[in-house]
Amino acid sequence: MKLSKIACALVAAITLGLAACGGDGGENDAASAPPAGSTPGEGMGGATLADFRTSLNLQELMAHVIDYNAFEVWHRQGWIIGDDVVELFPTDDDGWIAAENAARTVAEASNLLLLPGRPLDDDRAWVDFAHQLHDAAMLAGDMAEKKDKDAFFNAGTDMYRACRGCHQRYIANVDGPPAADPMKPLEGRQAPPPPNQ
Ligand code: HEC
Repeated sequence: MKLSKIACALVAAITLGLAACGGDGGENDAASAPPAGSTPGEGMGGATLADFRTSLNLQELMAHVIDYNAFEVWHRQGWIIGDDVVELFPTDDDGWIAAENAARTVAEASNLLLLPGRPLDDDRAWVDFAHQLHDAAMLAGDMAEKKDKDAFFNAGTDMYRACRGCHQRYIANVDGPPAADPMKPLEGRQAPPPPNQ
């Protein structure tokens, strides 16, 4: 086959390929219809509230997403004070990036607490705790980006307060004995050592 014929065949193949998979409005590329009875929210593209797929229940979301990523933050901050003071903070760029990634994940995941079916009541307190977690986690992310150890540590404590606050209000018996709270203690995380240590 001459070169020009090969080129021609290639063009034809590509054109055919485009026609087959291009956006020609055929039935194969039709977009899904919104779930019956729901209308797209403002700024949500074509998505409606009924489109969120909240496969995890709240307990699973906590364990696999929120708690997991919060500990990716907390394990990277604080001091263990014994005979020597051991710092838990990242010591290189990769470590700080990992800390920031985890904090940003918690911040975004706080929105998942507000998806349909997740809030335990219609009280704004639930929303406020989710926002408190968001803001603390964003601050932790910002401070990890700046590698500001003290501010990163304090933001981590604020995250912990948001978790505890919500648990105290929404989990039965949490204001009873401490054992009822599902949160693991923040092991090894202690207040900053005095400056001369
Ligand atoms: C807006 C409220 C709210 C916030 C904020 C919140 N939680 Fe929870 N969490 C709950 C509720 C409610 C449960 C109980 C869920 C259940 O058992 O059905 C729970 C359960 C848990 C559990 C137990 C999961 C299990 O396997 O039983 C852990 C762990 C947890 N949360 C960690 C955290 C951490 C860590 C944070 C903060 C970084 C946090 N939570 C923030 C409401 C919240």
